[in-house]
Amino acid sequence: MIFNELDKFKESFLWGSASAAYQVEGGYNIDGKGLSIWDKFSEIPGTTYKNTNGKIAVDHYKQFKKDVSLMKEMGLKAYRFSIAWSRIYPNGRGEINEKGLEFYDDLIDELIDNNIKPIITIYHWDLPQYLQDLYGGWESREIVDDFNNYCITLYKRYGEKVKYWVTLNEQNIFMLLGYKIGIHPPRVKDEKRMLKANHIASLANAKAIISFREYVTNGMIGPSFAFTPNYAYTCKPEDVLARENAEDMNCHWWLDIYCFGNYPAFAFNFYEKQGIAPEIEDGDLELLEKGKPDFIGINYYRSETIEENDINGISNFHEINTSGKKGTSKDYGIPGSFKTIKNPYLERTNWDWEIDPTGLRVGIRRINSRYRLPILVTENGLGEFDKLEAGDEINDDYRIDFIRNHILACRQAITDGVELLGYCTWSFTDLLSWLNGYQKRYGFVYVNRDENNEKDLRRIKKKSFYWYKNVIKTNGEEL
Ligand code: BG6
Repeated sequence: MIFNELDKFKESFLWGSASAAYQVEGGYNIDGKGLSIWDKFSEIPGTTYKNTNGKIAVDHYKQFKKDVSLMKEMGLKAYRFSIAWSRIYPNGRGEINEKGLEFYDDLIDELIDNNIKPIITIYHWDLPQYLQDLYGGWESREIVDDFNNYCITLYKRYGEKVKYWVTLNEQNIFMLLGYKIGIHPPRVKDEKRMLKANHIASLANAKAIISFREYVTNGMIGPSFAFTPNYAYTCKPEDVLARENAEDMNCHWWLDIYCFGNYPAFAFNFYEKQGIAPEIEDGDLELLEKGKPDFIGINYYRSETIEENDINGISNFHEINTSGKKGTSKDYGIPGSFKTIKNPYLERTNWDWEIDPTGLRVGIRRINSRYRLPILVTENGLGEFDKLEAGDEINDDYRIDFIRNHILACRQAITDGVELLGYCTWSFTDLLSWLNGYQKRYGFVYVNRDENNEKDLRRIKKKSFYWYKNVIKTNGEEL
């Protein structure tokens, strides 16, 4: 739709920014914290960019007050952060670590005192290593109760102060990269195991939502999903069908489970015929049916374009660009279902991600039409090389353009009639990218460190900091 005038953002719109514990905190083994699968994985040479790890990251564990004071200066309305499970339960279960709980008490209080609404992500990929060793982490149904127990501990401790909660961050990505492509822990390359682990994670998600209703009144909870809307490459019916396949397998596979409590039939059938569909036990569907979210969080970075893929067609999905050298990623596909192809209408970043603000509007509308739930943009941002110039300046106009156009797409989606709760950029400060080190930066605040040298970890405001500050001040009127 094209409108003469766009609706205004509501006064309650959450202008936010997001992060994840492993990527910012550091302090990986202090104050009683147990190790996570990322602490162990990153010790294996060659698994991460220049062997980077989160031991220190950007030192947020020690410098959170400084970071929150910068958020206050910006006027940020909401800060989405994750809790490290192994800070609360060093072994993922059993003994609670009071010091871990206190860290998040302090962070939450600091945010609230500065008029910033905390949005808690319960799980952002850093599974306690102990549970991985004990029973294979997400591949065992035992995790459903351990995760629920961890969630209840958080609900009881923070539920009165925190209204917005995210269960699992990007279940689709940590499953895909951890169990099918094997470039995240636990380095499994087996689609059947992925589909099984994924089913168990969905059960854990549902159970955690059911418990939320018991312990947190007036709160809202939902998963955050890495949403990559698909376009058909041409109007050739086979490409259109391939797009349907891709949307079913890459998107509805997760969102239908969250919102309808069941899998999309075509994708399930496709996996069943190959003998790899997840086993559904008695009671699973009832649990999934009961554990529906209040909103859908979407992490949006790009769209993807799809064409038909022969039964003997391409299947690779491991050539991901983690160097920032444009053009080094390869298309991927599922033989007999779909494959990706470069979209001739879209520019790409140095990491080969399509820049597509309209895709955000398309995606928000598709989700809203199918699931009829409010949406929170839990992540959106541009990972780029930033240059620290003389006089401590970072002129990241490219980031301003990127975010401006995506915020405009949000406003257009609101005008279309979607209920959008807020918009969180990724990220507030620079942080450690799981596989891309520190050269791929996302923040409004530059952190002076690189892959191999912590330097002084100084915080420096980028040009985008001042720009977003004004966006918030004018409630999105001045972009
Ligand atoms: C999302 C994750 O997938 O994208 C973040 O939730 C991540 O944790 C972000 O950092 C950007 O991805 P990348 O690979 O560029 O760091």
